[in-house]
This record gives sequence, structure tokens and C-alpha cells, in this order.
Amino acid sequence: MISPSDLEDWREARLVRVNSVLARALPEGELPAGRLLEAMRYGALGGGKRLRALLAYASAEATGADDALADHVAVAVELIHAYSLMHDDLPCMDDDALRRGRATAHVVFGDATAMLAGDAMQPLAFSVLANAPASAAGRIAAVAELARASGAHGMAGGQAIDLANVGCTMTEAALRQMHAMKTGAMFEAAVRMPALMVEAEDATLTALTEFARPLGLAFQVVDDVLDATADSTTLGKTAGKDAKDGKPTFVSLLGVEPARELAAQLTAQAVAALSPLEGAGRRCGRLRALAIAMGKRGH
Ligand code: IPE
Ligand code: IPE
Ligand code: MG
Ligand code: MG
Ligand code: MG
Repeated sequence: MISPSDLEDWREARLVRVNSVLARALPEGELPAGRLLEAMRYGALGGGKRLRALLAYASAEATGADDALADHVAVAVELIHAYSLMHDDLPCMDDDALRRGRATAHVVFGDATAMLAGDAMQPLAFSVLANAPASAAGRIAAVAELARASGAHGMAGGQAIDLANVGCTMTEAALRQMHAMKTGAMFEAAVRMPALMVEAEDATLTALTEFARPLGLAFQVVDDVLDATADSTTLGKTAGKDAKDGKPTFVSLLGVEPARELAAQLTAQAVAALSPLEGAGRRCGRLRALAIAMGKRGH
């Protein structure tokens, strides 16, 4: 069993590690066309909980991928995530001025540069995966996974559904699908990519998918709860924004307490999905401890 203090020590060390590999992966210097590189570094390096990276490291531990390989997955998934936040905050999307406790990228650099910085972070993520220390088959599978998770059937598609439903009421099934796409898909990719890189057997991938899917959904349900219950200083982003903008969320559909209960059920479902892996002798302690810690966020 991994105790909360063991998890905390590990989390802090991994946070330092991912921030340093991410800083090295990002381009630096001057471009004649302005502050693009600076905006990329601003969006990618400005804090964040790095949960997707932590899940990638924990999944690497469970699947036998080494840390150097896991670094590439962690950087790639955090680059896509950071770009998705920069675009999510743009005036044409959620129009947010606060992210990770400071001004959003478009407020600092202007809309066009923030948009282009996000555009440039996407191919960088795929190039980081393409250059990972893994077999060609493993790298191709990971690239395909991240492409699926970030594209029309994943994050970008989920974001489109989100924007199309402002002011509307969604059924629970439709809301689940939107959350699974806009947020869950990236959690799934973070957990699955280390396994794909080492060409793990199908049973391992199936169990990891069954772990990550409810966990990713629970994460967005908790994000909805926190938007309604926490303050902007704690969140580092504008609280109460979903209700103000008429966004359909699990809070608007079910209310705060039932949404919290749903997140707890989904977290328990995720943890239970690790049993077959543990039975097969895989080291899942870190995945389990991370899921439990994430489940406590909404309270
Ligand atoms: C925020 O994600 C956007 C969602 C998908 C809900 P995080 O809460 O993981 O954001 P950072 O990376 O910690 O800032
Ligand atoms: C965004 O969901 C999910 C992304 C794919 C970026 P939200 O719009 O709820 O994220 P926050 O609350 O702004 O971080
Ligand atoms: Mg949004
Ligand atoms: Mg938003
Ligand atoms: Mg939110």
C-alpha cells in the first residue's frame, strides 16, 4: 500500500521532473515573427497539477516502461493539455482571464499569438512521442492514441459539443459523452500510452482503459463541482463561470451533492478495474493512490 505521505513525496519529485523535461522540450530563443516561443513556454510551464503526467509515470510503473520513456509520454500529454487550456480560455471559447493563478495567455500575448502557440504545441507533442526511446511499433501506437484522444472524437470534439450546448439542457448520457470526450480522452491516453509504447498485451491495455475511463469522467465531474463550490484563488481560475455562461454541467443537471456522489462512484469503479492487473503481479499502487487522491478533490 502507498500511504498519502509516500504519494506526496513521489508527486513532488515527479512534478519537478516533468517540469524540467517539459522546459527542455520547448523551443527557446527569438523568432522574427514575435513572441510565439515565449507564449508556448508561458502556457506550458505556468504551474498546473500535472495529473496527466503523474498518471503516465504511474502507468509506466505498472507496465514496466522506464522513466526515460515515461518522460516523453508525460511531456506529450501535458503539451496537448496546456494547448487545450490556452484555446479553451480564448474569447471565442470560454473567454477566461485567469488560468493557473495568473493572466491567461491571450491576455498577455494577444489572441492570435495564444492561438498559434497552441497550434505549435500540438505538433511538438507528436514529435516528442516520435522520438521516444521505444520500438517503432510502440511509438506509432502512442502517436495514434494521442491523435485519437485529442481530435474530433476526443478533446476537440468534446469542446465543440460543449460550445454548441451553451444555454441548453443536456441528458445525463449526452453530458457523460461530452465529458468523456473533452477531458476523459486525455486521461485515457496518458494511462494507455506507456503500455502502448512497451507493446503490452491486450489484457493490460483493457484493464488500464477500464481504469482511466471512469477516472477521466470523474475528474471533469469534480471540475464542475469545484467551479460551483470553490473560489477563484483556490482554483487559480475564475470560479462560478459555468453557471454564469449557462454551461450544462453535472452540477446544473444533478446538483452538487449528487455530482460528488457520482464522482465517488466513478472513482471506486476505476480503482476496482486495477484488480486484474494486480492479480497479474503488476505494480498498481501508484495508480490506485493517485485515483483515490483525485477522488478527494471535490470535497
Ligand atoms: C483543467 O484541467 C481542465 C479540465 C480538463 C477540467 P486541470 O485541472 O488538470 O488543469 P491544470 O493542468 O492542473 O491547470
Ligand atoms: C475544459 O473544460 C476541458 C478542456 C479540454 C480544456 P472546462 O472549460 O471546464 O475547463 P476549465 O474549467 O476552464 O479549466
Ligand atoms: Mg471549456
Ligand atoms: Mg473553461
Ligand atoms: Mg471547468
